[in-house]
Amino acid sequence: MPLSKIAGIGKYVPANVVTNNDLIKYMDTNDEWIQERTGIQERRYAHRTEETTTTMAVEAAKIAIERAGTTAEEIDFIVFATLSPDYYFPGCGVLVQRALKMKEIGALDVRNQCSGFVYALSVADQFIKTGMYKNILVIGSEKHSFGLDFTTRGRNVSVIFGDGAGAVVLQPADKEGQGILSTHLHSDGESAEMLAMYNPGSHANHWGAKNYADFDDAEISDMFMSHQMIDKAQLYPFMDGPAVFKKAVVKFPEVIMEALSKSGYSSTDINMLIPHQANLRISQFVQQKLRLTDDKVYNNIQKYGNTTAASIPIALCEAWEEGKIREGDLVCLAAFGSGFTWASALLKW
Ligand code: ACO
Repeated sequence: MPLSKIAGIGKYVPANVVTNNDLIKYMDTNDEWIQERTGIQERRYAHRTEETTTTMAVEAAKIAIERAGTTAEEIDFIVFATLSPDYYFPGCGVLVQRALKMKEIGALDVRNQCSGFVYALSVADQFIKTGMYKNILVIGSEKHSFGLDFTTRGRNVSVIFGDGAGAVVLQPADKEGQGILSTHLHSDGESAEMLAMYNPGSHANHWGAKNYADFDDAEISDMFMSHQMIDKAQLYPFMDGPAVFKKAVVKFPEVIMEALSKSGYSSTDINMLIPHQANLRISQFVQQKLRLTDDKVYNNIQKYGNTTAASIPIALCEAWEEGKIREGDLVCLAAFGSGFTWASALLKW
């Protein structure tokens, strides 16, 4: 059974740079707080009307397809990870299929937020290994800027996120031992409400969503698509930052070690770790825990913020473009996010 390899990779980030100081126009925040807690200096925001999650994905995909030496017509499956789709439904995969004038291939959307890209990669990997498909486009893309709370009320969440897209083309590896060695997927729904966007949704507070204290029963029963939802800011993401931090710093190292030990490696064998760019403090904690030197961990959250499903393919692409990943390198991708879900992939580049 051949392994699957990343045959081509591409990224796209909007031209519009938004610094921490730019955010002061909208909310009570400051550069020092943001940098100290998250490491973020600036992020990109998509053009309000000309750039969407799908258009950014298409730009990243075109580069990945060209670098893989193939064409859009040759792609035989799409896996698209995002939490900020163009439409609530249908998913973005079909919009990519249309935009790139592809054949009537399957298109699957993955909704695993920050872990979305690694989950998507794992799904694609299985299809390649079984021989069902030969050329799979895997995408992570987000346009967060359309739906964040830019008032002081939402500042703990909105300063963190940015927009962008990354894509890879997965193909059967032609060299022995090259490609994705293993993927590892996990979830623990116990804390599903700790990092979530509850609406629009069918929950009617059934699960005890946070931030609902000032809703009365009548409002809750009328919750689906109501005015109260807008008036009470229930169309924005909710995050219990400290709870996310505590779980992330345990699960990141755990899932990285799981991937390494599966193939008989230890952390010293890693040439490049690409962590999901959640927060620079989380990445630094993971780096220390695994005793990795600075040159073995790639971080670009300083420039792009947290781009959720797009963060790993953007960082992987940038590291590769900068010549920091070379053939034969042991590369580990690791993610943690809403759900909670977490995942890793170990690759021989
Ligand atoms: N600017 C200025 N002050 C702020 C801001 C802001 N943007 N946001 C919150 N504050 C204030 C709060 O109001 C609070 O003030 P108070 O003490 O007067 O009440 C104070 O700062 C501390 O707030 P906390 O929420 O407790 O801040 P904390 O130190 O936990 O830092 C943070 C928040 C950065 C989100 C942190 O909890 C964290 O890193 N958590 C991990 C979550 C994460 O990385 N999420 C990324 C997305 S999820 C993912 O990708 C896995």
